[in-house]
Amino acid sequence: MRISVFGIGYVGVVSCGCLAELGHEVIGVDVAAEKVAMLAAGRSPIVEEMIDTLIADAVHRGKLTATDDVVDAVSRTDVSFISVGTPSSADGSVALGAVDAVVAAIGRAIRGKTGPHAVVMRSTVPPGTAEDRVIPLLERESGRVLGHQLRYYSNPEFLREGSSVRDFRSPPFTLVGAPEGDNADVLREVYSPIAAPFHVAPWRVAESVKHISNVYHAVKLAFANEAGAILASYGVDAREAFRLLCEDKVLNVSSAYLKPGFAFGGSCLPKDVRSFLSLADARNLSAPFLKQLLPSNQTIIDRAFDAITRHGRLPISLFGLAFKQGTDDLRESPFVRLAERLIGRGYDLRIYDRFVQVARLMGANRTYIEREIPHLERLMVSSPEAALFTSRIAVIGHVAPEDRPALLAGLAGHIVIDLVGMDALRAHPDITYEGLCW
Ligand SMILES: NC(=O)c1ccc[n+]([C@@H]2O[C@H](COP(=O)([O-])OP(=O)(O)OC[C@H]3O[C@@H](n4cnc5c(N)ncnc54)[C@H](O)[C@@H]3O)[C@@H](O)[C@H]2O)c1
Repeated sequence: MRISVFGIGYVGVVSCGCLAELGHEVIGVDVAAEKVAMLAAGRSPIVEEMIDTLIADAVHRGKLTATDDVVDAVSRTDVSFISVGTPSSADGSVALGAVDAVVAAIGRAIRGKTGPHAVVMRSTVPPGTAEDRVIPLLERESGRVLGHQLRYYSNPEFLREGSSVRDFRSPPFTLVGAPEGDNADVLREVYSPIAAPFHVAPWRVAESVKHISNVYHAVKLAFANEAGAILASYGVDAREAFRLLCEDKVLNVSSAYLKPGFAFGGSCLPKDVRSFLSLADARNLSAPFLKQLLPSNQTIIDRAFDAITRHGRLPISLFGLAFKQGTDDLRESPFVRLAERLIGRGYDLRIYDRFVQVARLMGANRTYIEREIPHLERLMVSSPEAALFTSRIAVIGHVAPEDRPALLAGLAGHIVIDLVGMDALRAHPDITYEGLCW
């Protein structure tokens, strides 16, 4: 394919070299004359493993050229990749000035071109940038409507400086944000020699994945560094402890606990977080990141409370009281906290949890229930139907599989606040569905 790459910084130069290596004809475009001159002469404007030979070879084979002429670059290519900088503004938000400038320039160049053109955003931009910013600008400047000789994709770049050529050649996946019904065939063709899964998602999701990936990396580093310092102060070889932690690919380095949902609780997590923090306090060690874990967890309960009470004083049914499904363990359950807050504010509440129900009847955990939550026990009912009989809002924490048919049948007409992401609820035709953060 014929591809123009706008912005020949770290991402752009690697794209130029690697796309040319894949056999495409590539034109690098930049506003910085010295970068254009260097690239045109077969020299890389950036320092990176393998890039010098890649660029020299591509220019030598006539597969890569460089220019500062936007109209010329757009007219001679089918696809324009955008990899201009998106630095931080003074207030921390992202500065999209270079993105706006390059999108407008590409749009104007498309206006004077016949034939289709696709524009691909490789720069890291916040969710919503495609729909709220880039596409309106592109349509205005090009005089075209998206889908008619004009396509726009978001295709975030996940490479790491230092190993970027290797990362380009073997990415974990190729992710493309596209409008519904568009299979992104242009980009499938661009990346066809690369053996990696190809995912097409809505624009906003694709834009988000790059953002949350980097935030997640920062979360992992902050955790490892703070926890490492605490461990070291107790004479522990923290690198060895973390090496072993990472060996658990079931719970630790895995997708476990990595789904947005409701707050954590139970007999272990809150207790052990508190205990670990007390180790830091005893050594006067600052651990600002870890110290925010429990307050952060509380904000999730607050968010659920707000989502429920936003609808006014409607009677509520709560499904799930134990800290998770399949247990009667109520210790530090976030559902208990939520329920207490609701009844404390005078809301009409019914609670159903099959496992707590059994514990009440069979005597298991009965003492805890009678001693700690007698005020909630009075609100507990013995079937989903009894919970839904009077309620108008149903709050779904967790539901045992055997209760799901009765739940789904009884929900009609309810406002449903889904705290856990139950697929069957989303598809329910007769409810007003609200996910906690989806
Ligand atoms: N550096 C990385 O490791 C990395 C990895 C993944 C994603 N990203 C993202 O990719 C984007 C680019 O990052 P980078 O590090 O390559 O940036 P960079 O600052 O190295 O390069 C940006 C280039 O864009 C050029 N430019 C600015 N305005 C232009 C215009 N109107 N027309 C043409 N060129 C223009 C600049 O002159 C510069 O050469 C950013 O959004 C970044 O967040 C970077």
